[in-house]
Parts: sequence; structure tokens; C-alpha cells
Amino acid sequence: MKTVITRTELRTAIAAARARGARIGLVPTMGFLHEGHLALVDAARASCDFVVMSIFVNPLQFGAGEDLSSYPRDLPRDAALAAQRQVALLFAPTVEEMYPAGEPQVQVVPGPMAGRLCGAFRPGHFQGVLTVVAKLFNLVQPDVAVFGRKDFQQAVLIRRMVRDLDFRLEVVTAPTVREHGGLALSSRNVYLSPDDRRAALALSAGLNAAARGFARGERDSRELLGRAAGVLAAEPRVRLQYLELVDPEALDPVPRARAGDVVAVAAHLGATRLIDNVVLGA
Ligand code: PAJ
Repeated sequence: MKTVITRTELRTAIAAARARGARIGLVPTMGFLHEGHLALVDAARASCDFVVMSIFVNPLQFGAGEDLSSYPRDLPRDAALAAQRQVALLFAPTVEEMYPAGEPQVQVVPGPMAGRLCGAFRPGHFQGVLTVVAKLFNLVQPDVAVFGRKDFQQAVLIRRMVRDLDFRLEVVTAPTVREHGGLALSSRNVYLSPDDRRAALALSAGLNAAARGFARGERDSRELLGRAAGVLAAEPRVRLQYLELVDPEALDPVPRARAGDVVAVAAHLGATRLIDNVVLGA
């Protein structure tokens, strides 16, 4: 695996791979890699011969008072894990390298879908995500880009950006990787105290309660959300931010659930914000 820091080195390495006829896959991350990230590499390798991973903690997508400065980082460890998983090229730029003229004046502004769910509580977050992802798409020009379903709204918005702005690539969404108890893997899980980590199991347990209700024939959203809310409320350490049942395209709340609709949750445990979701009827 080769590691590059600058956009010029990145473009040179990509051009060489392209000249060899390689099909190029991109896995964008903010690093502190876990099995969820590495499963995206596997998904990229399934259809590509040359997998590029980016590791960049993107300041644009962090709000004031969020965890930009404390976001966990360990590039040597990440590089070793990426190499083991046969990433061909690791792109780990500095902030100055990505944004040499400071905060970009021209950015990708998402529509109303970015104001729902997480967007209602993190203004500007998805504009920051889409801006950096568009930049990465332009730099790498991948055939395939892989994202995790764990960040459901992010994946929906990226698909929409690709469609609306005619990026020529295929977006693949890979399933959420979980710990044994059901907790979705996240770089932010390292912040959790042992008690918070145990309490965090209520997120996936609540979502599963809604999914089981749907599987047994319940279709009323209030009823399904009530089952999830009951599980979450039993865990006082969980401070719920939102719990919604939405359609997977427009992210509109739906009164009656259909297969493919998504129950999404965000909650704080101490200072740590966690998100999770489940697809009904999956
Ligand atoms: P990050 O949180 O590092 O996540 C990188 C990718 O890994 C995202 O596509 C995310 O959905 C996926 N991922 C995280 N946890 C996962 C899990 N448990 N199972 C499966 N996939 C998982 O998401 C970002 O970074 C950034 O917003 C980024 C897209 C890189 C733009 O800065």
C-alpha cells in the first residue's frame, strides 16, 4: 500500500492505476478505523481492482461545540489496518492540503432533505459532508464509491448528489457492522464509559423492537415507534435526540410503514452522540 499526502501525488498514483486499466474504488473515511470501515474496503474490492481510502477529519462538517479537536486519530494504526485489507492507496491529506485557500467559498448546498433527522440538529453538517465528498470524487474519479448504511441520511444525500450533479460513478451502500450485543461500530464509541457502552445497546434493541413489530404485521408508525421508544426510555442514560420512521428517498416521516422504510435514532450518552437505523422488512 502506498500512502500519499498531497493531491498531486494522489492524482499521479490514480493516473498510473488508470493507465493499467484498473477499476477504481473509493472509500472515504475520517479514520480511527474499525471493522465497519474495513467492511467497506471489502465491498469495494468485490468490484474494483484498485481501492483508494481517504482519511481526512473534515472540519467543514463539524459544528461549533462539536468534537473536531477531540476526534480520535491514529494514522499509523489506520495505515496498518488498511494495508492488511489490501487498500492500494491511502490518501491522508492535511487540512491545508485539502483547503489551501481556507474554507471553500463554493460549496455543495443540499436541499430540504439535509434539514431532516440529523440535519435538524447539526446545521451545515451535510453541506460540509457533500462538499468534501464532491472534492474527493473529483480528485479520485472513482468508478465506485462505498458508504455505510450506518450513516443512513449521509448515504441518501450522497446518492442524491451523484444523481443531481451527474457524477459518473456508482454509489454502493454497505450494511452496518455491529458488536456482538448489537451496538453499531463507530469511531466515537471510544468515548463511551463502560456504563454508557452498556446503555447504548438500547439503541439497536429499540430499533429491533420496531423491526420485529413490522415483521409481525404492525404498520402504524406511532405504534412501531412506541415500541422502540419504550426500550429507549427504560435506559435513563440514553438522552434521545430523535426517533423517526421515514421513507428512504425523501426522508419524510410516514404515518404507515412499508417495507424499505427506515427507523432512525440519534441519542446522547454523556457527551457522545450516537446514531443508528434499521430498514423495515429487510
Ligand atoms: P466516518 O464516520 O469515518 O465513516 C466513514 C464511512 O464508514 C461512512 O460511509 C460510514 O457510513 C461508514 N461506517 C461507519 N461506521 C460503520 C459501521 N458500523 N458499519 C458500516 N459502515 C460504517 O462518514 C464519514 O466518516 C464522513 O462523513 C465522510 C463520508 C468520510 C466525509 O467526511
